[in-house]
Amino acid sequence: MTKGRFITFEGIDGAGKTTHLDALEQAWKQAGHEVVRTREPGGTPLAEKLRGLFLHDAMDPLTEALLVFAARRDHIQTVIEPALARGAWVLCDRFTDATFAYQGGGRGFDQTVLGTLESWVQDGLQPDLTLLFDLDPAIAAARLSAARQPDRFEAQDQAFFERVRAAYLARQQAQPARFAVIHADQPQADVAAQIQTILSQKGLL
Ligand code: TMP
Repeated sequence: MTKGRFITFEGIDGAGKTTHLDALEQAWKQAGHEVVRTREPGGTPLAEKLRGLFLHDAMDPLTEALLVFAARRDHIQTVIEPALARGAWVLCDRFTDATFAYQGGGRGFDQTVLGTLESWVQDGLQPDLTLLFDLDPAIAAARLSAARQPDRFEAQDQAFFERVRAAYLARQQAQPARFAVIHADQPQADVAAQIQTILSQKGLL
């Protein structure tokens, strides 16, 4: 039985999650919680190695899906589940919704297969709350363009991110109780206010 809290942040590349992850991590620490800030793919030595392959090596969509779920399995078993069991609050930058959005929506990979992998790997584990940073891919691309060297996903065209966005929203519509949609095209202070309102309503601040 889990005792902690498991919150995930999702959205297309360039949606601006990082600033708000930082702020929430600080707020939870100040409130006295043990906070485990982590990310996917990654979060363990093995999963971070798989992340490097996943982001930079060419592979077919099934390999891509298997690799990200392999990383997730190690992350759940060695970091997330133990943290939740001891009562920590886990803040994760992306989780399985990203697989449905990027591999399912973006790449067009079979969502039924993804659902099977999800149930094998997660054994019923789902986030308590997922904040979906939603915005127009054109705005996200403009935010990213000045940034770093793109990885295999950031280098995709706008049509790819339109499909990723649509798949995220479809997942949110299928599981509305778990998701809150953040209107990420707003100024940063307004986005922070949206997050604060949602977390307060859910007793997570
Ligand atoms: P990040 O740069 O936000 O950490 O995410 C890494 C990239 O990996 C991002 O472009 C989204 C992608 N990704 C997937 O394609 N599938 C997944 O399951 C996850 C977690 C991330």
